Amino acid sequence: MKKILHITSSPRGEDSNSTRLGRRIIEKLRNQYPGSTVTVNDLVENDYEHLQIEQIGAFKIPPEDQTSAQRAALRVSDHTVEELLDADIIVISFPLYNFNIPSSLKAWIDHAVRPGMTFTYATGRPEGLLKGKKVYLAMAANGVYSDGPMKPFNFAEPYLRYILGFVGLTDITLFRIEGSGIPGVMETATEKGLQSVEIG
Ligand SMILES: Cc1cc2nc3c(=O)[nH]c(=O)nc-3n(C[C@H](O)[C@H](O)[C@H](O)COP(=O)(O)O)c2cc1C
Repeated sequence: MKKILHITSSPRGEDSNSTRLGRRIIEKLRNQYPGSTVTVNDLVENDYEHLQIEQIGAFKIPPEDQTSAQRAALRVSDHTVEELLDADIIVISFPLYNFNIPSSLKAWIDHAVRPGMTFTYATGRPEGLLKGKKVYLAMAANGVYSDGPMKPFNFAEPYLRYILGFVGLTDITLFRIEGSGIPGVMETATEKGLQSVEIG
C-alpha cells in the first residue's frame, strides 16, 4: 500500500493526454500496490499563485518566529510541502508548453522548494530533504522529443530532473504521449504512450 500524489497541470480536463497518462501510471501502481490511496492536486483548479514578497520574506523565518501574517502567507506552500512529505509516490502530469513546463507547474515548484523543509544548506552544500520517494513524470506534447531533431528542445525534462533532484527526488521515470500534432504519428500517439507504461 502506497500513498500516491497526482499533480495535474493541464487545463484540458478529461481531454488531457498528460492527465490520462498519469492516470494510467496510477492504475498500474494500484495493481502493484493494492490498497494504495491517491490524492490529486489539480494546479489549474487550485490556481497556484506566483510567489509574492510576503512568501519570499517568510521563507527565511523559522516557524517558531513567524508572525500570523507570515504563517498565512505560507499556507499554500506549507500545504504543498506537507503533501510531498506525506506521499510515497509522486506522479506529475504536464503538457509541454513552449518547450518547457506550464507556468502552473512552475508556480507549484516555487512553493515546494522550501529552505529548511525540502532542501537545506546546513552542511554548506545543498541537500534535498525529500528522500526515499519515487517520481513518475507523465508528459504530453504535439511534437516528438524522445528522438530526432527536436530532442534538444525539450527543456522540461532536464529542468524537472534537476529541480526535483535538488529537493531529494532523484528516482524519476518519464513516460510520454508525443507526436499528437504530427500526421502519421498522431493517429497512434495516445495509445502508444499509454501502452508504454510499465511499472517496476
Ligand atoms: C500554449 C501551448 C504551448 C504549447 N507548446 C508546445 C511545444 O512547445 N511543443 C509541443 O510539442 N507541443 C506544444 N503544445 C501542444 C501540447 O503540448 C499538446 O497539445 C499536449 O497534448 C497538451 O497536453 P494535455 O493534453 O495534457 O493538455 C503547446 C500547447 C499549448 C496550448
